[in-house]
Amino acid sequence: MNRQPWRGLTLALMLGASACAIAPAACAQTSAAPPAARPWLNPKLDADTRADLALKAMTQDEKLTVIFGYFGADMGAKYKRVAEALPGSAGYVPGIERLGIPAQFQTDAGVGVATQGGEPKKRERTALPSGMATTATWNPELAQAGGAMIGSEARASGFNVMLAGGVNLVREPRNGRNFEYGGEDPWLAGKMVGAQIKGIQSNAIVSTIKHYALNGQETGRFVLDAKIGEADARTSDLLAFQFAMEDSDPHSVMCAYNRVNGDYACENDFLLNKVLKQDWGYKSYVMSDWGATHSSAKAVNAGLDQESAGDAFDKQPFFRGPLKDALAKGEVSQARLDDMARRVLRGLFASGVVEKPVKIAAIDYAAHAKVTRADAEEGVVLLKNDKGLLPLVASAKKIAVIGGHADVGVLSGGGSSQVYPIGGRAVQGEGPASWPGPMIYFPSSPLKALKARLPGADIQFADGKDKTAAAKLAAGADVVLVFATQWNGESFDSPLTLENGQDALIDAVASANAETVVVLETGGPVLMPWLSKVGGVVEAWYPGSEGGEAIARVLTGEVDASGRLPVTFPASLDQLPRPTLDGDPNKPDDLFAVDYTIEGAAVGYKWFDKKGHQPLFPFGHGLSYTTFAYDNLKAEAKGGALTVSFDVKNTGKRTGKAVPQIYVSPKAGGWEAPQRLAAFKKVELTPGASTKVTLTVDPRLLATWDEKAHGWSVAAGAYTVSLGASSRDTVAKADVTVAARALPVGLMKP
Ligand code: BGC
Repeated sequence: MNRQPWRGLTLALMLGASACAIAPAACAQTSAAPPAARPWLNPKLDADTRADLALKAMTQDEKLTVIFGYFGADMGAKYKRVAEALPGSAGYVPGIERLGIPAQFQTDAGVGVATQGGEPKKRERTALPSGMATTATWNPELAQAGGAMIGSEARASGFNVMLAGGVNLVREPRNGRNFEYGGEDPWLAGKMVGAQIKGIQSNAIVSTIKHYALNGQETGRFVLDAKIGEADARTSDLLAFQFAMEDSDPHSVMCAYNRVNGDYACENDFLLNKVLKQDWGYKSYVMSDWGATHSSAKAVNAGLDQESAGDAFDKQPFFRGPLKDALAKGEVSQARLDDMARRVLRGLFASGVVEKPVKIAAIDYAAHAKVTRADAEEGVVLLKNDKGLLPLVASAKKIAVIGGHADVGVLSGGGSSQVYPIGGRAVQGEGPASWPGPMIYFPSSPLKALKARLPGADIQFADGKDKTAAAKLAAGADVVLVFATQWNGESFDSPLTLENGQDALIDAVASANAETVVVLETGGPVLMPWLSKVGGVVEAWYPGSEGGEAIARVLTGEVDASGRLPVTFPASLDQLPRPTLDGDPNKPDDLFAVDYTIEGAAVGYKWFDKKGHQPLFPFGHGLSYTTFAYDNLKAEAKGGALTVSFDVKNTGKRTGKAVPQIYVSPKAGGWEAPQRLAAFKKVELTPGASTKVTLTVDPRLLATWDEKAHGWSVAAGAYTVSLGASSRDTVAKADVTVAARALPVGLMKP
């Protein structure tokens, strides 16, 4: 496995300089003005007015202070963090004490409060399941509750900026960071990631939606040029951002490492100025990813407002001395510098953190464990259950549990989002010891959790290292559970093949006993050469701090299996738009392009539908322990709004959760693919119970991007509305005629 070096740490300037040396305004011992003289501290005023007032009171040095961030973690002998940053943190931006503007303390990321690399004393915190797992719940309420929980831990850990809300679409199933994101569909990803950001920001802190945009693979991420047409970008990746932002109003946006159509994302006028700020009217600030600032004037004029970790990761601290030079030369206007500082202030005021400063506080880990467990268990996807091996029945007297360190814990994803678990690491010495490692198993054992729930069963464990011994144990069991893991992380992409002989292990075990269920802990899709030999497959993703409990609850049927795939599982690499991944991980500096014009906006299932490929498991797929019937599908288009209603009934014997999905297709064609996900809803039903579900379709999901009109346009005509249990399992169809409609380019409030 090839991994790219740690984010391109250049140490351009650093080595010993402190924030005070570089930004004297931040550290000057100024006496604070009395509140009456600081009207921007009045929370009754709106964030824009407050930002304007504060800006007027700022000196030039103070403006330059709030737009420049420092890295927050020591990197051995190479780099020493500024003293003011919280240890092992992602970053720090000085505050302006005399104006009552707090410093910004930044932490990663979407699964919880992380600790950065070199820090010997790790911050141990609650970890949510991966973003992919949370998205697999198809339950925005859980995503919001999870966000609220990790946001509260960020606040209680002294952080007021959480670098969370990864909404890059899965264009590439091998992308090592897919586990951080919200799957392959703009509506699903937008709804789920938006809900998480909303939850985080409910703690009066900033959440940073990222990585804007088209950061679709890790190989060559610092240089690659994503090629895509405007209409395709607007109908796919940008639309996911748009939906998430409409629901959550994130107080910051992080631009990505890669280039888009020639320009780096953090100096991309089209992405930052035109789309984000003009078209969408975004008023708060854009921060760069760590090492993603490449210039002063170009970046500033293209719309970048704050340089992150500029002392450590960029070739120069572009937003300090070089920016002053650019201002002096007239390459950057004073008005633009004012705009940058105003946007940062606005984000802070809008978040509420100015009147509610963060402070270290006790964390209720027991309560938080319940939040992450609920998320994890609803994210578990039952992919196959042909023999009805699940839920495990009390009559299964002998159960063999094999592999995946299931005796001690569950896997998590690597890189900057890594949360260190309470109770320490369950497995030592596997995977790389440093970036993008370490490889961490959270100490929540599926084996122990199963034993606690099945006291009458004889449950034996084999670590799976010896295939023959594992097959022997399997042969004598009533049911076999094989745990298989794939470690993914930031800075490298992964093949879709399980490593370390796990495919051969599963094959050997299933050959010894066909009553075998495979439990996967992976970042995203994997190939399954053994699929026809096993009785069941469960995708548990990276299930977080309480993963072992969550898996056991689903396997034993304590709760229904109610996750659904947020991503297509391909049957082979040939089915992908790019069967061979672009770029060479061994040549991280060589420029290359990734041609997203191949699939355009037909990402994931849309590509599979368009090409007629049969996936291994389709988008939206997931089985339940009960059965559901659907009836009375009705689609009505009135005043340009499409409303769909139907009845769902639990026809089985157990309480369960259905995830009815609405797909729409224009009869005349003309979209990027035959159908789009247009709405969904998770509903819990007791046996025999039924409910009527009514869903309104976002009009942009019926529209195409109209370049001439610079807006969305819904074509008049006949559309088919399909109700499905997955993108490939349609249970009912209805026809509807929709009137033509033009929609604005800007953000629409939900
Ligand atoms: C990642 C970001 C992260 C930042 C700070 C970068 O390497 O791409 O997602 O927020 O580091 O840790």
